[in-house]
Amino acid sequence: MSTADLVDRLNEALGWELRAMTMYAHYAANVQGIHRLQLDPMFNEEATESLAHADVVRRAVVKLGGVPVTERNAHPIMHTTDYKAMLERSLETETKAAEVYAGIITLLEEVGDQEMYDAIEQIYFAELRSLENLRLILA
Ligand SMILES: [Fe+2]
Ligand SMILES: [Fe+2]
Repeated sequence: MSTADLVDRLNEALGWELRAMTMYAHYAANVQGIHRLQLDPMFNEEATESLAHADVVRRAVVKLGGVPVTERNAHPIMHTTDYKAMLERSLETETKAAEVYAGIITLLEEVGDQEMYDAIEQIYFAELRSLENLRLILA
């Protein structure tokens, strides 16, 4: 594994975080019906969390001598006002995020930067928590 590979994978994660920020902010603003009471704050929290994750990943890319991406992942953000569709798209996004971070952690095991490993592991655990939460909401 080269540093360039690691930078590419981190940039992939950054692109997904940038997309997640936009998607969750969009859903927070658009969710309708009684579920808005709970889902507006929940989606907003996820948007804020994605902003924080993006910051950590961006700094990791810079530390490795790379250039962080500024464009979000191109996977479409479906517009809807239906809370269930939003939750399904959220589950899809968190599943993808968890998968990307799991791959990065495997690469980081070889690098020996404990601080970076711990920071990315924290993000990975947060994605797993969101994933499990969404799975239970949709159950
Ligand atoms: Fe995230
Ligand atoms: Fe997430």
